[in-house]
Amino acid sequence: MTIRITPSILNADFAKLDEEIARVASASDLIHLDIMDNKFVPNFTFDFERAAEIIKSCPIPVDSHLMVIEPEKAAPAFAEMGSASVTYHFEAATEHRKIIRDVHSKGARVGIALKPGTAIDVISDYIGEIDMILVMTVEPGFGGQSFMSEMLEKVRAARSALGKNDRGVWLQVDGGISPSTIASAAEAGADTFVAGSAVYKAEDPAAMVTLLRQIATQ
Ligand code: DX5
Ligand code: ZN
Repeated sequence: MTIRITPSILNADFAKLDEEIARVASASDLIHLDIMDNKFVPNFTFDFERAAEIIKSCPIPVDSHLMVIEPEKAAPAFAEMGSASVTYHFEAATEHRKIIRDVHSKGARVGIALKPGTAIDVISDYIGEIDMILVMTVEPGFGGQSFMSEMLEKVRAARSALGKNDRGVWLQVDGGISPSTIASAAEAGADTFVAGSAVYKAEDPAAMVTLLRQIATQ
């Protein structure tokens, strides 16, 4: 199984983001960009203008994780900005088919994220149309929280729902991923891993990405 490590810049130094991204780019598959609107979650990260600049100047593909209300508007906008992948929260949306269609029409992959309290079954109708399932392993909103091991069961259920997975749908986990938790998430079936504080609190962030990849591959 192909393993992808997607560092989150949420815990990087926002004042020198280009530099922070450059530190991990060559070791990473995509950069995970957390977009928070202070409505869906009690925190704010970047407005559209700043996000567009980050996506444009990023040397590797960007995985935009939208923790925002009304993803019907935001998701296509993030695809248009050049994100390789756009993930929205199931809980924030009503018009799933419209979002999937609109993001695809702009050439990006589309993912659906599930908060810890949201069951995997809610996406059964859409699993055949999306490109990634994101199982949140913390409550969205903040970096540096502890991995919720009780989410491993949901990761297993998601892997089994993907079945033969002919379309190559990615299964991502986000929250509390570190050298001590990544093996259990990989064993449960995740193949795409977000890591924020583990990477940016490390003395050598690129080496940490490589270490996480090694552990997940075992
Ligand atoms: C949390 C964000 C995560 C966050 C992960 O809402 O979606 O991407 O940056 O940070 P860590 O790895 O520190 O839990
Ligand atoms: Zn995220």
